[in-house]
Order: sequence, then C-alpha cells, then structure tokens
Amino acid sequence: MYKDLISLADLTGEEILELLDLADRLKKMQREGVKHRYLEGQTLAMIFEKPSLRTRVTFETGIFQLGGQGIMMNMQLGERESAADVARNLERWVDGIMARTFSHQAVVDLGAHASVPVINALTDKLHPCQILADAQALREHRPQFPELKLAFVGDGNNVLASWLNLAARLPLSVTLVCPEGYEPDPEVLAFAQANAQGEVVVTHDVAAGLKDADAVYTDVWASMGQEEEAEARRAVFAPYRVDAALMAKARPDALFMHCLPAHRGEEVTDEVIDGPGSIVFDQAENRLHAQKAVMVKLMG
Ligand code: CP
Ligand code: NVA
Repeated sequence: MYKDLISLADLTGEEILELLDLADRLKKMQREGVKHRYLEGQTLAMIFEKPSLRTRVTFETGIFQLGGQGIMMNMQLGERESAADVARNLERWVDGIMARTFSHQAVVDLGAHASVPVINALTDKLHPCQILADAQALREHRPQFPELKLAFVGDGNNVLASWLNLAARLPLSVTLVCPEGYEPDPEVLAFAQANAQGEVVVTHDVAAGLKDADAVYTDVWASMGQEEEAEARRAVFAPYRVDAALMAKARPDALFMHCLPAHRGEEVTDEVIDGPGSIVFDQAENRLHAQKAVMVKLMG
C-alpha cells in the first residue's frame, strides 16, 4: 500500500489498473448523478508554484464532488519555509496535500514529512496524474490497452517520463521520437527499459518511431520554467511538429493525444488536434475522474 502518489513507478501494474477501474466507476456515477461523497468533510491543500487550468479546476471540483473542499495556495516551497516544515504544518490541519512544483525533490520532501497523503500534480520531472487520466482515455478508445504502442513526439520531458514509468509497470510500448539532446532523464529511461514488458525505445527518426503507433502523443516544446529556451527550441523541434503528414506515418486509425495546453501551429497543427482521431478533451475530462480515484484511494 502506498501513502502518496509521487511517481507511477511506486505503484504496481495491478495498483495502476485498480485506480483506472475506480476512475471509470466514479466517471459513471458522476454522469448518472449518483452521489459519491466518499471524502465527506475532508480538506485538500492545493499548492501551486506554477500556472494551471486543468489541474486546478479538476482537483478543486473533484474534492468538492467527493464531499470535501480544496484550499488553493499559490506559493513557492522553500521561500518562506522549507517543504518539510510546510508538510509538518499542513498535516495538523488537512487530510491531503496536492502540489505542483518546479523541484521534484520538494514533492518528495512533502511526502516524507507529512503524515497525510501527498499527490504530485506535476514537477519538472514527472506528471503522474496526467498519465492516469490519459491511460483512462486511451483505454476507453482502445480496449486492448495496455497492449498498444504509443509514440511520444517531442521533448523527453516530465509527461514523457511518466509514460515511461507506466511502461515499466504495464505492457505498453512507448517510443520517444525526439531531436538529439532532448532525450529523457537517463535514470527514468533505464528503469523503464529494465522493467518494461513491451518495447521502450528512443529514436530521432520520425518514420521509424511512428511505425505501427496506435497513439501519437505530443506536448509543448518548452515546458513551464523553460520559457527562455522557447525560441531556440522552435527551430530544433520544427521537424517534429505533429501535422497530417507525420500522423500518416502511424497506423491509419492512430489516435492523437496531448496533455494541453497546446501551442497550436507549433508542436501540433489545428488539422490534427481538431481532427477525428484527437482525444485531447477526453484526456482533459478524465483528469477529474482519475484524480478523484487517487484521492478516494489515498484519503478514503
Ligand atoms: N495538463 C495540465 O496539467 O494542464 P494544466 O497545466 O492547465 O493544469
Ligand atoms: N510539459 C509541460 C506539461 C504541462 C501540463 C510542462 O511541464 O509545462
């Protein structure tokens, strides 16, 4: 049993599938208007060092639908006091902590020093809640999940790293197609390659990487905190823009996925993100259901 959700690598494949099943049940209850106030009277502290649309709204709406309430906290950990001391305070008042931070270590420190559950809502290294919602959406559209090939096109960033962690736990094949110099965190990649039941590959060759892909995923070329690199990255990543010609190199029925926000015209064209294979808003919707599952599992 796990206290926190900091990395999908901390869960077994079975535990991940349990969360996805619970997310499906919660989604059905929400759609059918069946009350599911499993966290009546509980409070979630929501720490944001970075901007957010989806994460903020889905956590706050999610805890509300579960009968609790969220407290929005725009703050930088380590500025007034350490993450450890923030944890030692918050645990006296709230039932769970959600944090979106720059430093991954800050979330690890919150988890180590708080007796209450800590949920990683994105760090520079990982974005596990995103990948749970994405996996729920992918499974809805392709029931043979996890026996699929996902091609991630772009930067070997936090979102890709959480896909690699999923590939270490479930038989999903993940190929990163990236420019040279933008490969994933070597430790995360090595862990995935050592544990994968499917294939985990990094390539710079678009055609080879896209071959037989069931889903094509992309994300922004410069993540939050990398704004000063954005212009230089635009030139390097241009051959990796997901347009109709790139999609044509995947399976003919390949899905298009993006965690959003999208920079339309940069990493993806309107034609692809608005096209029939795009499931980006299903992914966004499922942030609500998947994170409710995480909260019920950890705080219930
Ligand atoms: N995908 C995602 O995490 O969106 P926000 O940055 O808007 O929360
Ligand atoms: N890789 C992006 C994801 C945003 C949800 C970032 O970290 O900014």
